[in-house]
Amino acid sequence: MSFDNQVVLVTGAASQIGIGCHAARRFAELGARVAICDTDAEGLAQTRKAIESRGGQAKSYTLSVADTSAVDAMVAELEETWGSVDVLVNNAGIARTAPFTEMTDEQLNQTMDVNFGGTVRCSRAVAPGMIRRNSGVILSVSSIEGHAWGWPAHGHYCASKGAIEGLTRALAVELGPHCIRVNAVAPGLIWTAQSTDPVNSVGPDGLEKLTAAVPLRRVARPEEMAEFLATLASPAAGYMTGQTVVFDGGITLGELTPLLT
Ligand SMILES: NC(=O)c1ccc[n+]([C@@H]2O[C@H](COP(=O)([O-])OP(=O)(O)OC[C@H]3O[C@@H](n4cnc5c(N)ncnc54)[C@H](O)[C@@H]3O)[C@@H](O)[C@H]2O)c1
Repeated sequence: MSFDNQVVLVTGAASQIGIGCHAARRFAELGARVAICDTDAEGLAQTRKAIESRGGQAKSYTLSVADTSAVDAMVAELEETWGSVDVLVNNAGIARTAPFTEMTDEQLNQTMDVNFGGTVRCSRAVAPGMIRRNSGVILSVSSIEGHAWGWPAHGHYCASKGAIEGLTRALAVELGPHCIRVNAVAPGLIWTAQSTDPVNSVGPDGLEKLTAAVPLRRVARPEEMAEFLATLASPAAGYMTGQTVVFDGGITLGELTPLLT
């Protein structure tokens, strides 16, 4: 796999144990010039340093994917200086606990605006350049919670991820004639800051317990997601578009026997 001469933009790449940071680093190892954005300036600087210290090229943008003008300005700057955005990875996302009957409009709007709105904004910003060049890949990170499962007290999160999957299908049809592939990945349990947060997700103990329901009996590492995203962006997946691929060690198969022990 090689991404030589390609520009890859990864959103939400600041968390050092996150999927975005590992994806950015992996694309850089594979030869891409990598642009990263996040609200966390300090983390972004760390990711950028990790890429540059291994000989890679990186640009970083401190912004929220909920900010249309900041996203548009980032993509305009990238197109002007690096000439293109060849691959977009819509990874930035938040999960916040909000029991349904108590969920405020603010909580609803924030989750929809970052997870789904961010995916819309970044895809919309890169699409014209991809259309001009008749080439491009858009990948978005959904979740099994938006694909097959339900997650109590996370209705807004599940809905935001389901919306990403609908958008993925629509964009695949609209942009396919311009040779732009659009796909999503629905991860299961990945060991990151999000999943190890015991307040807004299951936490480390919850992750350990849940491995009993995973046929592969383990949680995935963010590096594994990064490798899979790179594979989906590569010509190995060159005839695939409009799909959401489940990456979950089999947990959504719903193996029930662990409940008997
Ligand atoms: N970890 C899992 O088990 C799991 C499972 C399914 C889906 N996901 C999804 O994977 C993606 C990556 O999550 P992660 O697990 O690596 O979590 P993470 O919290 O480690 O990483 C998310 C990153 O997004 C950034 N971010 C948050 N809001 C942002 C905004 N408004 N603008 C720009 N950046 C923003 C954060 O600062 C952070 O760096 C998310 O979309 C998440 O919903 C994760």
